[in-house]
Amino acid sequence: MPPPVTLAFRNLLTVALGEGRGVDPQDLAPEGALARAHRGALATLETRRGNGELGFLRLPDDQDLLAQVKVACTRERGFPIRDLVVVGIGGSSLGPRALLEAVTPAALTPEAPVRVHFLENADPDTLTRLLATVSLPHTLFNIVSKSGTTAETLAQFLILKARIEEAVGADAAPRHFLFTTDPEQGPLRALSRDWGVDTLPVPQDVGGRFSVLSPVGLFPAGMAGLDLDALLDGARAMAKESLVPDLQSNPAGLLAALLHHWDVRLGAPIHVLMPYADRLRGLALWFQQLWAESLGKEGRGPTPLASLGAVDQHSLLQLFMEGPKDKVILFLQVMDPAAALVIPPPTADGAFRDPAFRRLGGHTLGHLLETERQATAEALRAAGRPSATLRIPQVDASALGGLFLLFEVATVLAGAHYGVNPLDQPGVEAGKILTRGRLEGDPQVTFLPEEGF
Ligand code: PA5
Repeated sequence: MPPPVTLAFRNLLTVALGEGRGVDPQDLAPEGALARAHRGALATLETRRGNGELGFLRLPDDQDLLAQVKVACTRERGFPIRDLVVVGIGGSSLGPRALLEAVTPAALTPEAPVRVHFLENADPDTLTRLLATVSLPHTLFNIVSKSGTTAETLAQFLILKARIEEAVGADAAPRHFLFTTDPEQGPLRALSRDWGVDTLPVPQDVGGRFSVLSPVGLFPAGMAGLDLDALLDGARAMAKESLVPDLQSNPAGLLAALLHHWDVRLGAPIHVLMPYADRLRGLALWFQQLWAESLGKEGRGPTPLASLGAVDQHSLLQLFMEGPKDKVILFLQVMDPAAALVIPPPTADGAFRDPAFRRLGGHTLGHLLETERQATAEALRAAGRPSATLRIPQVDASALGGLFLLFEVATVLAGAHYGVNPLDQPGVEAGKILTRGRLEGDPQVTFLPEEGF
């Protein structure tokens, strides 16, 4: 199987950007500084793996889990399922959302067996709008929370439970829910036993933002018809490549080492992921969470930014080209876009002779997009601004599996380069604790006024 993802990184090096600007290729040689740092980061990763902290690495091989998901992917639960609503937030939503946005032609067509929706934010407008568009007797709600305690998710679940009970009666209501949660602990797990709700497990050694290839992502993707075997095959192939000690043949290692170096040594702490396919916008948002929540701690860490080409060429690119030199742009190129939409060939008639029309005729839309991406990379390079390009053959299940795995490994390796634990999120917990205290009316929890001096 050819590598599902490759990395072109010359535009991060001095050979492309000019002496004194960029990574010295010598640093990538087997005894170079980055190659040695990479081997150190891999050793840290292996220690974490040995401690049972990196469950995401074995998900591509977990046939039992896959079998459980496939059994759960039924369209009939005593009622025909027309709509699936995934309720979750953070790692319990961004991964499945990225998957569904990327490979979802079936879910978007009127003949689709199941339409998939997401409820993340506890925004009353969004929930109300969704309830107006689905038929509750034909809807399954997948409540996804590894901890089973997340306020936004549980609040929406409680509202949905009341609505479902009104619509189908208390006895039938549990069949309209499937919980994806910790295999043993937490309030959702306990409720599943008391209330008789089907469940799928999030393995305890798989962290929220690393859970896309667990039932968190697999179940909604399977319900939308995605080839789960191909997804995991792509991830498995990438896992192999991402763990090799030779830096130059390890795209995850290169990404981690180069981006870290550009941040701490070359003054570019902003890491922009810029796919040129609408279907990959969700993946960029998923990466943004993974990179930020894993690496931003102890006063350190890069700032990720999700972007979209060519849309942001008409928005953010001005800043990327001429603003502070503090960004690395990571393009995401699809080598062979599926739909070859050809722009009609030039005509000789009247106003259509204008070059604005003529230069487009005969090219495909995909060629136009890719030409714009290359032109942007070259313009950045000429201005001494670093970029690199991740390439996938197509937006398909295998390439997606590869991308998820690559970014996950790169994140753990980058954690070692930055000297932080990429698997915790103490900063997120602080706000959660205050919210809980305030909701419970704890008199100890007071907030200072936000206005005045
Ligand atoms: O990566 C993480 O751990 C977080 O983003 C969580 O996924 C998020 O807070 C939701 O947590 P839970 O799945 O427990 O509801």
